[in-house]
Amino acid sequence: MKKIITIRLKEHKYNILISQSTNDFFSIIKNQTKTFFIVTDTNIAKLHLKYLVNLFKQHGYNAKTAVINAGESGKSIKNLSYLYDKALEVGIDRKSCAIAFGGGVVGDITGFFAATYMRGIDFIQIPTTLLAMTDSSIGGKTAANIPCGKNIAGVFYQPKLVWINTFFLKSLPKRQVKNGLAEIIKYAFIFDYKFYNYLTNLFGNKTMSSKDFDYMVYKSCSYKAKIVEKDEKETNGIRAVLNFGHTYAHALETATHYKKILHGEAVAVGMLFSTQLSLKLKLCGKETYNKVKKLLKLTMFDLDIKNNPKQLLTLMKKDKKSVNGNINFVLIKDIGRTVNKQVNDNIVLNVLKGK
Ligand SMILES: NC(=O)c1ccc[n+]([C@@H]2O[C@H](COP(=O)([O-])OP(=O)(O)OC[C@H]3O[C@@H](n4cnc5c(N)ncnc54)[C@H](O)[C@@H]3O)[C@@H](O)[C@H]2O)c1
Repeated sequence: MKKIITIRLKEHKYNILISQSTNDFFSIIKNQTKTFFIVTDTNIAKLHLKYLVNLFKQHGYNAKTAVINAGESGKSIKNLSYLYDKALEVGIDRKSCAIAFGGGVVGDITGFFAATYMRGIDFIQIPTTLLAMTDSSIGGKTAANIPCGKNIAGVFYQPKLVWINTFFLKSLPKRQVKNGLAEIIKYAFIFDYKFYNYLTNLFGNKTMSSKDFDYMVYKSCSYKAKIVEKDEKETNGIRAVLNFGHTYAHALETATHYKKILHGEAVAVGMLFSTQLSLKLKLCGKETYNKVKKLLKLTMFDLDIKNNPKQLLTLMKKDKKSVNGNINFVLIKDIGRTVNKQVNDNIVLNVLKGK
């Protein structure tokens, strides 16, 4: 499958190429630059870096590399500083292009590096996790973590190209695949009843083929691209719809110190919570609640993660989306239809307590 989605923004546009053909990629980047700076993490370096470097060399390019430690701690200011040093050492200049070759961690820090190195150089995203393919590689959010908080340092900086090659998913651990499925399911819940039915059949009946992954990635990217076009820098509220399940998820991740639970696992419980809240407020009926729960269960998410209601409420109130102390939620009316609403603390607490 070869698909190209174009994201048209105010100042420039770029493509998302979904293809397993390396020729498709190299024909697009032709004449872009001679030198690439490939940033990856230790896990992907062991599995795929040699392959990618050889590809660039075979096509006549210089490919310099930098490897950071795998995991969330890789998004540190220390690693950012390492990337600046390494880039200088290997001769990366303003005409070179950085490549983020990895999951969301590599994508976020490489994007931030590219935005700031010599006042900004081009960068390309080659995502290798399902989460990065369907979410983090698109939209231009870049970041690094500081000791006091996650994603505190960062800028919006769009890539020149996103190349999604689902071949790389073959080595991705199952839990990480499921992590990305949460975001895919989210797009179905908030935008598309037909896509919901497709996913329900797929997860209920058969194992997933490479074609299924290509299709799910294509649908997800199309939705993310549309939203980013309408609200590039999260200024008019349109992009907020993508936060379905995320207010609860961020609180749960903070409560568990970003250690025990993966982002997608937290989002899965968060989407169920938002639906429970919607049901309580009579925004949706029991039928919608059952549909949401059914797809989450088919994807085998653990929906019974123990929580401390008061702690979660406090954390949700601290979330940047809370206004005047009221928590702002994306709630669901039906599959494919959402609404933004501020919800009273007592109602939130009762639903957290399962009342
Ligand atoms: N910029 C955005 O819009 C945005 C959106 C969502 C999340 N994020 C960020 O993304 C990060 C999470 O991203 P993630 O879930 O991709 O995590 P990750 O980048 O840590 O990758 C998860 C794990 O999978 C390994 N891995 C990656 N690709 C692999 C492959 N093909 N085969 C084998 N192993 C592979 C990695 O080494 C890592 O251990 C967080 O820092 C989050 O804040 C950013």
